[in-house]
Amino acid sequence: MQVYLNGKFVPESQAMVSIDDRGFLFADGVYEVIHVYRQKLFEWDLHLARLGRSLAAIQLPAVDGSELSRVAQQLIGELGPEQSEASLYIEVTRGTHRRSHGFPPPGSTPPTVLMWVRPVNPIPEETVDHGISMITVPDDRWAQVWIKTIGLLPNVLAKEKAHQKGAFDAIFVRDGMVTEATSANIFMAKDGVLYTAPATNYILPGITRHVVLELAQARNITVNLTPFSVDQLVMADEAFLTGTLTEVLPIASIDGYPLKSPSGPLARQLLQDLHERAGLQP
Ligand SMILES: Cc1ncc(COP(=O)(O)O)c(C=O)c1O
Repeated sequence: MQVYLNGKFVPESQAMVSIDDRGFLFADGVYEVIHVYRQKLFEWDLHLARLGRSLAAIQLPAVDGSELSRVAQQLIGELGPEQSEASLYIEVTRGTHRRSHGFPPPGSTPPTVLMWVRPVNPIPEETVDHGISMITVPDDRWAQVWIKTIGLLPNVLAKEKAHQKGAFDAIFVRDGMVTEATSANIFMAKDGVLYTAPATNYILPGITRHVVLELAQARNITVNLTPFSVDQLVMADEAFLTGTLTEVLPIASIDGYPLKSPSGPLARQLLQDLHERAGLQP
């Protein structure tokens, strides 16, 4: 498949980035992942706005949204009709310059811009039916995780730790309170109230989190954006992850403790609502 790199569409095998790219050297860049359902970008405007906030936060210039949209449509056009779901990846780094911590001199390098679209497999129904297992890990990430940077090593290590323990993913815990998972936000429901961590600098404010909050409000479900502890989470009626490719994924157990409902009715309802919003269901 073709990818887009620095203004050109090139075959994936020929897309090369310099050894001096600041993304490679310093993880000095930001990214977005957008779900493509039946050739349509899900919540494009929200993703573009978040990309703009991430770029501004690391002092990179804004990107031209209509140009990104044009590129995205061209990449999506390469998908075969049988590929009902795909992901669009966008990465912008501070460009290429001989290694030095300080920013390159103004005007010395354009940002590196990479975009690709790849097919994804829908989450199997049995995974939603059975729910997933999670472990908890200390949230030792930096204090600006609201910026969607490509510096994801703590997330990578936490996910790997979960896999090594036979779990699906890890939940970050900071000062006794649940923040989020390695690539998803986390919700719990108790006595009809839906809880998720507030959008502070300690979580990545997920687009799916935002959509799920809207879907819950449309169903008159009371939402409480208050931090909760692991003990409260384990005692919840149900809990689930939300994310671009994760969608709404029920949690069955945490650190080996089974939740009351491994695949709760609220999660299933919200997943159905999400699919409806994505144009997958009538
Ligand atoms: C750390 C983290 N939290 C939450 C999310 C969920 O965000 P979104 O719903 O925008 O995919 C992600 C997505 O990659 C993430 O990496």
